[in-house]
Amino acid sequence: MSSKLTTLTAAEAAALINHGSTIGVSGFTPAGAAKIVPKAIAARARAEHEAGRPFKVAIISGASTGDSLDGELARADAISWRTPYQSNKSLRECINAGRTQFFDMHLSHVAQQIRRGFLGKIHWAIVEACDVTENGEITLTTSVGASPTILNQAERVIIELNRYHSPKLRGFHDIYEPLDPPFRKVIPIEKCTDRIGTETVKIDPKKIACIVENNANDEVGGFDAPDVLTDKIGANVASFIANEIAVGRIPREFLPLQSGVGNIANAVLGALGTNPDIPNFQMFSEVIQDSVIGLIRSGKCTFATGTSLTIAPALLKDTVYADMDFFRPRLLLRPQEITNNPEMVRRLGIISVNTAIEADIFGNINSTHIMGSSLMNGIGGSGDFTRNAYISIFTCPSSAKGGKISAIVPFVSHLDHSEHSVQVLITEQGIADLRGKSPSERSLEIINKCAHPDYRDLLMRYRESTKNGQTKTSLANAFAFHQQFLATGDMHGAKIL
Ligand code: COA
Repeated sequence: MSSKLTTLTAAEAAALINHGSTIGVSGFTPAGAAKIVPKAIAARARAEHEAGRPFKVAIISGASTGDSLDGELARADAISWRTPYQSNKSLRECINAGRTQFFDMHLSHVAQQIRRGFLGKIHWAIVEACDVTENGEITLTTSVGASPTILNQAERVIIELNRYHSPKLRGFHDIYEPLDPPFRKVIPIEKCTDRIGTETVKIDPKKIACIVENNANDEVGGFDAPDVLTDKIGANVASFIANEIAVGRIPREFLPLQSGVGNIANAVLGALGTNPDIPNFQMFSEVIQDSVIGLIRSGKCTFATGTSLTIAPALLKDTVYADMDFFRPRLLLRPQEITNNPEMVRRLGIISVNTAIEADIFGNINSTHIMGSSLMNGIGGSGDFTRNAYISIFTCPSSAKGGKISAIVPFVSHLDHSEHSVQVLITEQGIADLRGKSPSERSLEIINKCAHPDYRDLLMRYRESTKNGQTKTSLANAFAFHQQFLATGDMHGAKIL
């Protein structure tokens, strides 16, 4: 790092930020997220509120971040507007209470929408780096996300120089920003392993207001240990894919995998790793989670590229940072504009596996809302992959909350992925292959193969409550399951008219 760049404390850096500013932050999941300056901004907001002055900022990131950013700022009631994704309990509460306006968007769109001004001006970038030079070359840490665009577009930049991360991370990133239409060129990636960009982000060093030193880990929480249910879902995904290879619908050379976020996604990957009929594979994904590291170590996953390395601190330090020479040729981080790009997903023929909150009997998916109104996390990259995948798979347990909620419902209470994009639905009960099937055939397949046995008769009664039309939707009964839950706390006994 250069001595020409000014070093400030986090509190001094936070004092530069004004009420009403829009801040672009690094982070895609807690991996690589800005930490110490946002925490100081939250402290400043609290002090301003106590003095009777307003203080709120708008936050744009790659995706979710860590608790020091979204959590601290939300608890200080300091976020006026947030995009594109979050997964923090405190922020979720602010959003659902209407104190923070949240714009839920496809993650592949973020960079271009920033560049073209759709999301307004970015006054400040706060970006974590493991190295920065006096000529403005920045080496990012465990995520790329939208950071290259945020750094390029922001008026002023604060760098959190985080010594926790190894400076040897240089070379783990492939930074490439496409030109916008009408000048866009083909993104020249034909294989997961292709490198097309630079190792660092280069900005005008005059924009760098200060460096803030830090030494904190990524605040990545661990996953719930896989249980009988998630193991069964994982085994069903593995057997579906193995069978597709056996019958020739997936080529023997295999195709790259994308896997979503959360406990179920982590368990699914674990199951793919242990199934002997699944060949060694590569990943072209968004988030690289804990289980991928073990799969790379065992040789089952030969290469993984994504936009974040979201792994527990101990695993990052003791496994990846301890053996950089082994992992360097096997892991590559790219901007989310590339990993989630529909052009990539179609060309490479990615098999996508994402998790649903609920699915309906026609194959529509709700990934984001509980009972139609409360936000959980956001759509994230699930739409980028689902709409464009070679085969798009959704998984979920057939029921939630101790069986009081059927995850298979007559009609989704919020729609994120339509029946036109979803090809396969998998629960612990079984596999519904929706390809080539009419809505009527799909509803039978989903009820019989995926629904929990407790709810099959009710779903059948719903299916039979309307006789005519291509998609037999009963407007009177479409939300009978949800209404029953809201009235009694249990979907059992839903009234089908
Ligand atoms: N109704 C009400 N609550 C439900 C529910 C339903 N139908 N289905 C699940 N839930 C609850 C669970 O009970 C759990 O609640 P808890 O936190 O109180 O325990 C919570 O939702 C999370 O469920 P879990 O089974 O642990 O799932 P997960 O950790 O695998 O996450 C999603 C599932 C859908 C929330 C998560 O995958 C997500 O945010 N997806 C959208 C973004 C995305 O897909 N990104 C990947 C693109 S690469």
